[in-house]
Amino acid sequence: MSRFQSPRGTRDLLPSDQVVWRKVRAICEEVATLLAYQPISTPMFEEVGLFQRSLGQGTDIIDKELFLVEGRTEESSQYALRPEGTAGIVRAYIEHGMQTWPQPVRLYSIINNFRYERPQKGRYREHMQFDIEYFGDKGPFADAWVILTQWQVLTRLGLRNIHLDLNSLGTKEERAAYMEALVAHLTPLSEKLSEDSKRRLTSNPLRILDSKDANDQALLGEAPQLADFLDEESAHHIATVKSYLTSWQIPFQDNPRLVRGLDYYCHTCFEWVQVREGKSSLALGGGGRYDGLMTQLEGPDCGAVGAGLGLDRIVDLLQEQVEAPMPDPAGAYIVLADPELREAAQKIISDCLAANLRVEADFSKPSFGSQMKAAGRGGAKYAVILGKTEFEHNKVVVKSLQGGDQQEVELANLISVLKA
Ligand code: HAM
Repeated sequence: MSRFQSPRGTRDLLPSDQVVWRKVRAICEEVATLLAYQPISTPMFEEVGLFQRSLGQGTDIIDKELFLVEGRTEESSQYALRPEGTAGIVRAYIEHGMQTWPQPVRLYSIINNFRYERPQKGRYREHMQFDIEYFGDKGPFADAWVILTQWQVLTRLGLRNIHLDLNSLGTKEERAAYMEALVAHLTPLSEKLSEDSKRRLTSNPLRILDSKDANDQALLGEAPQLADFLDEESAHHIATVKSYLTSWQIPFQDNPRLVRGLDYYCHTCFEWVQVREGKSSLALGGGGRYDGLMTQLEGPDCGAVGAGLGLDRIVDLLQEQVEAPMPDPAGAYIVLADPELREAAQKIISDCLAANLRVEADFSKPSFGSQMKAAGRGGAKYAVILGKTEFEHNKVVVKSLQGGDQQEVELANLISVLKA
């Protein structure tokens, strides 16, 4: 093995991986075009300050995971590889005066992002996202449009059992009032909190809500709920988003503890998960509204909402589906030489299917000859012939449709002979 390997937490995508990646990218592009997004590309690195100001100090992405560029000059040392796409696209919107374009402006990009995470399956140091951003609309329709876009991609890819976790983070003021109440509730319990949550009690209390620690979750049982801090307008916003989702038949569930790992969100926030055998996958995507970010970066107060789909996690799931054994294209044609043996022939068909063997038959063909002819045309490797004499001895005839040789096979051994 070569001394050099791909850096920890990164992967080479080999030719055999590219088939599914191309399909995923093609569907993202197709849905983006269908739902009136325009493509945009921004640099893979930006000024560190842009990310710090956008994603928020105190978030893991900024404090622990940013890939800082150590440059040869002071200028090149002020950059970081992008951990996500929103900050760069908002910067581009402002820089190119896109507020003067007809609104809304809908943009998409398929991008690679870099986060210095502890690597594990589904958590990579370089990952791909289908990123969409919707600018120039503060109303709930835009939020629902973004969710519809992601839903279209997920369903067109054939992913099943997907649902949306949905929450409202309200306005900045509502969140501030809520955080005060949450801290007041948790401070007397702080000794019992996990180390991470103890730290977050001062740095970023909202993140305690989605702690993975079971004990933290139990301590949150009686905690105040953010929904109770929303005023009428905020409550109406999220209720309207839900009514759009219901009409589009997009499955969602309220998750009052959903907060996101980036600080810029307000009002609607959401994440997609797949639930299999009662267990939720890592988030396949997520996003939300981030009206405040635009002004924070000295842009117009125009409203913005967006989301990212995690393509690596999606491809991992699709590859698991593909890796299920594929039907054997060779398979067998079941020839019913004696109509009285129909039930036995049906049992052989069921056995073939259970063994994932391709199987063909046509009992409406009247004669042995016509069935054999069809067997020869159909591409099967063997004809399995059920005749009275052999069957009385629990045997069938297996005839190779390529070589023409044939043998009698015990019924009990039939499937293993066909698979061999
Ligand atoms: P995010 O939730 O940090 O949001 O990332 C979106 C998705 O990217 C995640 O749900 C996950 O599927 C995938 N992802 C994130 N980190 C990794 C990783 N280390 N390895 C593999 N997949 C990962 C954002 O990035 C926001 N910029 C989304 C957004 C756009 N919000 C508004 N506009």
